[in-house]
Amino acid sequence: MHLNLRFCSPIAALATVFALVQAPLSSQAAGEKKIEIFSWWTSGGEAAALDALFTVYKKQYPGVEIINATVAGGGGSAARPVLQTRLAGGNPPDTWQSHPGWEMLGQYVDPGYCEPITELYKSGSWEKAFPKAIVDLMTKDGKTYGVLAGVHRGNELWYNKALLEKNGITVGDKLSIDEFFADCDKLKAAGIPALGVGDSGIWASAQLFENTLLGVVGGQGWKDLFSGKMQWDDPKVKQAMTYFAKMQDYVNPDHSALSWDQAIGELIEGKVAFSSMGDWADGEFLKAGKKENVDFGWVSHPGTDDSFIIVADGFTLAKNAPHHDATVAWLKSIGSKEAQEAFNPIKGSIPARTDVDKSKFDKYHQWSMKSFATATLVPSWEHGEAAPAAFQQALNDAVTAFIVDKNVDTFASALVQAAKESESTK
Ligand code: GAL
Repeated sequence: MHLNLRFCSPIAALATVFALVQAPLSSQAAGEKKIEIFSWWTSGGEAAALDALFTVYKKQYPGVEIINATVAGGGGSAARPVLQTRLAGGNPPDTWQSHPGWEMLGQYVDPGYCEPITELYKSGSWEKAFPKAIVDLMTKDGKTYGVLAGVHRGNELWYNKALLEKNGITVGDKLSIDEFFADCDKLKAAGIPALGVGDSGIWASAQLFENTLLGVVGGQGWKDLFSGKMQWDDPKVKQAMTYFAKMQDYVNPDHSALSWDQAIGELIEGKVAFSSMGDWADGEFLKAGKKENVDFGWVSHPGTDDSFIIVADGFTLAKNAPHHDATVAWLKSIGSKEAQEAFNPIKGSIPARTDVDKSKFDKYHQWSMKSFATATLVPSWEHGEAAPAAFQQALNDAVTAFIVDKNVDTFASALVQAAKESESTK
């Protein structure tokens, strides 16, 4: 499968802090008095962060009524099919949440559902403030189609500090896969499910596999997999599958009944010890009033210290948007420094703009910003960036089957096949 990973190369330089010249915002632009904003941000942390974006928008463009069109389901698992039906039926929301890369360009731009907003990047500070490598992921034929609210890191392992301490477990700056399994065994012996998963939407388990795979193949291996240099039945991939199978022995028994945020809730309550999840989990801890490095801690998912799985959140402008001007104003607003500084500390992501006031961010965010500046940046397939939707779907199906049969060869063959089919549908 030859997938163009345009932002795989280390782009540390892009995280340099550029000078800010705030784009002038005109409240005139919100001439139409309504806007429908479509997203899947419904968990405690997600909703609070979305609300922060609304607050800034209302301040910058007073008098616009916001229709908050959310469809619950982490990772957009339930929202994306609803959106697809609306788009195909000619009934688009004005703007919708989308990941850059394949998802935005392949699912929404190629079929003609989006209006370009290139002009926004030419005005004021935007050209300098947004890393080009990320803007490129929303750009086709010289036209840009999205604005990023923030950039999540997908590959964290979160933990309940008190529970680990009680069981004589200390986690340092790094955790190897062997140390992780040793900790899991200790917890298992104490009758505690070590690994909290909420895969009522299978994407959360696929995310665990994504992180585990990166931990084995590394940033270069990730690039090789998506450029076709490494095959999906490579011994390294199979090694990751074996680890993933082993992890199932430590998972909470109620995993398939829980959503991702309910699993984080179990971690907060001390029912499970670890959870491998993107840093939207940080938003849940904060919303629950938990203190970083006191109540909860984090470390890179085993083996992924030098990589940063990008899960970025963008918004689009619908072609023939019912409320065009209010939507352009919304996009200007979420791209403003003010909005990025209000939203990201609550959401767990780091700002897409590089000219923010870093002192407004807590320790976790400082850690993630540093990782963004120094790690190998790789796109997520589970969140639509690295591969076409068909590959993502095939992977989810293969993960569902694997959790039951734990057959590494079948899993690997399914991915080889999915990669072949993705290539042929490009
Ligand atoms: C991701 C999204 C994040 C977060 C997460 C869980 O796809 O980029 O913002 O919402 O899903 O729902």
